[in-house]
Amino acid sequence: MERFRDRGLRGVGDLVEKPFDPTNNAMSYTASPDTLLETPLAIQQAAPNPANAPSGRFFAEIGIASGMRVLDVGCGNGDLSRLVARMVGPDGEVVAIDRSPEAMAMGRSAEAGPKAAPIRYQQADLAGALPKLGRFDAVIGRRVLMYLPDASATLARLAALAAPGAIMAFQEHGRAGLPAGLGGLPLHRRLYDLLWDTVAAEEGDTGLALRLADLMLSAGHGIEVARSEGILLQAGEPSFLPTLAQAMLPRMVERGVASAQEVGLDTLAERLREEHRVVGGTIVWDLAFLVSARVGLDR
Ligand SMILES: C[S@@+](CC[C@H](N)C(=O)[O-])C[C@H]1O[C@@H](n2cnc3c(N)ncnc32)[C@H](O)[C@@H]1O
Repeated sequence: MERFRDRGLRGVGDLVEKPFDPTNNAMSYTASPDTLLETPLAIQQAAPNPANAPSGRFFAEIGIASGMRVLDVGCGNGDLSRLVARMVGPDGEVVAIDRSPEAMAMGRSAEAGPKAAPIRYQQADLAGALPKLGRFDAVIGRRVLMYLPDASATLARLAALAAPGAIMAFQEHGRAGLPAGLGGLPLHRRLYDLLWDTVAAEEGDTGLALRLADLMLSAGHGIEVARSEGILLQAGEPSFLPTLAQAMLPRMVERGVASAQEVGLDTLAERLREEHRVVGGTIVWDLAFLVSARVGLDR
């Protein structure tokens, strides 16, 4: 398994402490460490979720530099805020906003590292008027626009907080007709559908990621990077999907998308492993859509 290790992956606890979406994190905080302890061993031993791995590469390539003032919107528990705080260093500043005080409480109790910028957390609803936060050199977010009722309107409000020529960059995930692999993968496909059906039932915009570049262009920003990274499941690699399913299950049940019996957490890891073993090869499970733009210099 060594050959799969160098991907910037993090522990199962990452999934537990974070807001949730089908590619990574729960919007609700249903999977506490306690619930994980009650989880069958096969699930506890599952691999961590790799959906955050593209962030380290993407946000490092778009011009975020030492001393910058960065706004992280929909920061959740501040995982991305801490990443950029290390990029901008002690002379920079990160302001992290979210509507969830519980998520930000987790962020406040986490260390970004000795050479990181200070992170200031502030509660704000991105669906409405934003507080006065000053001007930023970069406005960023991960897996947040898809949850907003009107992402274009929020982007316009965020542009007003961005200095002329500032970076505006997002990592979003969407329903992209996956998974793809060497076989039909009915179980993987069913799980993918259940996860995205849940987000749709919660009125998340499952197609936002595929419209992200369009949105930025229509807002008048100059796109500098628009690319994607696949989230891959390699043959023989422990799958993070059982952990994902476990954390999403309460939301699936609450929205009537699936019953606990249908998901069958107790045997899910084994059934997924067997399906993958039979077809072999790589499964493309998810795509991170990565778009970075410059806010118009004429603003
Ligand atoms: C899937 S989580 C992503 C968290 C974080 N960006 C990350 O990638 O680790 C989505 C976050 O968006 C926040 N969010 C959703 N709608 C929001 C709104 N209208 N205003 C502010 N935050 C919102 C949620 O509270 C949650 O923390």
